[in-house]
Amino acid sequence: MNRPPVTDWTADFDHLDPTFVADPYPIYEQLRTDCPIAHTDRYHGVWIPTRYEDLAAIAHDHHHFSSRTILVTDRPESPHDLGFHAPPITEDPPYHTDIRRLLLPVFSPKVVADYEPITRAMANDLIDGFITDGGCDAATDFAQHVPIKVITRMLGIPDSDHAQFRDWIHRLIEESPIAGDATFEAIFEIGGYLAGHVDQHRTSPRDDIITHLLEARMPDGRPLTDEEILGVCILLLLAGIDTTWSAIGSSLLHLATNPDDRRRLRDEPDLINSATEEFLRVFAPVTMAREVIEDTEVGGCPMRKGDRLLLPFPSGNRDPEIFDRPDNVVLDREANRHFAFGVGIHRCLGSNLARMELRVALQTWLERIPEFTLTDPDAVTWSAGQVRGPRTLPFAFTAG
Ligand code: HEM
Repeated sequence: MNRPPVTDWTADFDHLDPTFVADPYPIYEQLRTDCPIAHTDRYHGVWIPTRYEDLAAIAHDHHHFSSRTILVTDRPESPHDLGFHAPPITEDPPYHTDIRRLLLPVFSPKVVADYEPITRAMANDLIDGFITDGGCDAATDFAQHVPIKVITRMLGIPDSDHAQFRDWIHRLIEESPIAGDATFEAIFEIGGYLAGHVDQHRTSPRDDIITHLLEARMPDGRPLTDEEILGVCILLLLAGIDTTWSAIGSSLLHLATNPDDRRRLRDEPDLINSATEEFLRVFAPVTMAREVIEDTEVGGCPMRKGDRLLLPFPSGNRDPEIFDRPDNVVLDREANRHFAFGVGIHRCLGSNLARMELRVALQTWLERIPEFTLTDPDAVTWSAGQVRGPRTLPFAFTAG
């Protein structure tokens, strides 16, 4: 669809406008100052709260703000109305509480710790593939593959289909606001692919998430339906890949273009945990959406049943009311209550896993490739939509 360029961000916001996709932060800064809860008539009308406190209040209030709409699209219907469920992220209590509880054990700190050596080996294998070339595309040759390899192994499906996952993710997350039927075709295709794997697990159970879902029971004792199992698996593929890929890529881009931080993190490896949190704060990739299900008011703005909102966690993470020097990367920042992983009942279930993947990817990269640079800033491209991260990162290096 042809969209006029945005000329007034306070009244005509568009998260797919090329200016916003290239650099959303000055726009969020302007909105936090001039119009903290902006509105646009695009996408059938959307509110855009940008301050930390308002975002937190909305994310905590599932009585007024439903997750039946988590993606803002050109369609007037919510994904729910169109039959799309990816539990628990698309659901509200009480069902949300029950199905989320079933997933907690598969992302526990213990399970994630068990995956750390495997993740490190995978990151090293990837680097082996290009380290003698003197350069690579760090987004497509490295960052993308780390989460794909880990989540496919956890689910119990082959990672050899990664090009296919990438295509589905692109169509579902990046193109879904505008793509219409192609989005539904992607859901249909991914569902068909996963259904075959679920059937195989039924006859030969293994130690993986699909088997866990087949054996799980809801509080009333019933097993999950095939639709529920497929919905959860689709969510884990979508939520686990694009997000972490974006976080790893943005962090590497920062280190490639900020030699002081690169050297400091290399020379003071104990900073890795606070640095990881800081990268998550400054480059938070995920913006969610909600739908108002009961008339309410936020920050003096009346919101009506049926209204949609974007929840730009990346804007809250740079709110100067909460964070000192909000646009700067401070590798040893101490107070860092960011909400890259959201807040409230939908707070990211995979946050332990995401943190581990980001930390291990950065540690492994810095150990193997201590000096690296971005060869062409103009060649960097960014994903559009509600998950933001670099999709092309041409790097040059000499092997460490
Ligand atoms: C840096 C990487 C990641 C970021 C920034 C991120 C961010 C988020 C955010 C902001 C939410 C809240 C959604 C809302 O409020 O509606 C969320 C939910 C969720 N995330 Fe993540 N995520 C990441 C990685 C992962 C990984 C690796 C997995 C698992 C494989 C995962 C699984 C989930 C699930 C299942 C939910 C839904 C929780 C619920 O609805 O109760 N995420 N994530």
